[in-house]
Amino acid sequence: MRVLVTGGAGFIGSHVVDRCLQEGHEVAVIDNLRSGSRHQVDPRAEFIELDIRSIRLPEIIGRLRPEAILHFAAQIDVRVSCQDPVFDAEENILATLRLIEAGLAKGLQHFVFASSGGAIYGEASGAQSEAHPEVPINPYGVAKLAVDKYLHAYGIQKGLASASLRFSNVYGPRQGARGEAGVVAVFCKRLRDHLPLRVNGDGTQTRDFVFAPDLADAVSRVLKQRATGVFNLGTGVETSIQELATALCHCAEMDPAQIEHATAIPGEQRRSLLDASKAIRELGWTPSTAVQAGLAQTYEWFRTHREEA
Ligand SMILES: NC(=O)c1ccc[n+]([C@@H]2O[C@H](COP(=O)([O-])OP(=O)(O)OC[C@H]3O[C@@H](n4cnc5c(N)ncnc54)[C@H](O)[C@@H]3O)[C@@H](O)[C@H]2O)c1
Repeated sequence: MRVLVTGGAGFIGSHVVDRCLQEGHEVAVIDNLRSGSRHQVDPRAEFIELDIRSIRLPEIIGRLRPEAILHFAAQIDVRVSCQDPVFDAEENILATLRLIEAGLAKGLQHFVFASSGGAIYGEASGAQSEAHPEVPINPYGVAKLAVDKYLHAYGIQKGLASASLRFSNVYGPRQGARGEAGVVAVFCKRLRDHLPLRVNGDGTQTRDFVFAPDLADAVSRVLKQRATGVFNLGTGVETSIQELATALCHCAEMDPAQIEHATAIPGEQRRSLLDASKAIRELGWTPSTAVQAGLAQTYEWFRTHREEA
């Protein structure tokens, strides 16, 4: 299948590119390299350095004629979205709509979108399914939800098959420090540089950490089955930031007693936890990497790729 991965030079996108190539797809990547890196893109994929907001986008899509678009390029920083909601919407909503329109004009059959459970469902009192109320509290979350809704409308209006994948906090090799689960990357870098870890507040706040290669497996299943609709992709396992810091200290053979505590961030979400039973049932997906094993692999990558991260 001819697959276009936007943001394919980034953290999650590059794992998805690797998986698509493994599956034998013909892969092209569009990325402006704002946070991604050229060397993270497997040379078997065609790489096009382009901003998805570029007026050249329709011409490039016209040449590539992708059967499926996997859309991972985004403004990913929640703080930036609060400081400049217009910029966030231009990149995360309008550019996405232009991408869909350009694709549809050239025979696009399936659109897969990197959405966000944490940003859409808000504070969790237990695992949140796709039926949980959608209550984004920042422009980044509003934009993710808007695209999810646009895709539903595109299905009805234009027959476009699409899947909105609502990720929990993704971590793994190649991660940058800014995204939703950037804490893993930040901690790995500090440990590698023999610096103490700093946890905000008492560290009892929890997140659902899902390993990027497991997500790439889910994306590959979505593609293969041409699945449509909203799917939560998380592990259903809560890990506190204190537990995360302690586990990473063990990976780095550092004493967890060195963990420092900074003042809590006002308004920081206490719990985030996704119920992915729909994806498990309908896609046959399993988030198979236990968090301890995934953190060990991630720390090892940061330790051995100092020049890249
Ligand atoms: N990391 C997480 O925990 C998480 C959770 C939920 C959703 N997501 C979503 O997954 C997607 C990928 O996130 P990531 O963590 O891999 O981030 P990332 O920053 O590593 O990847 C984003 C990629 O998009 C590229 N990009 C950004 N703006 C672009 C533009 N205007 N034109 C072309 N390329 C552009 C960047 O250079 C980068 O390579 C994003 O849509 C993000 O919102 C991430």
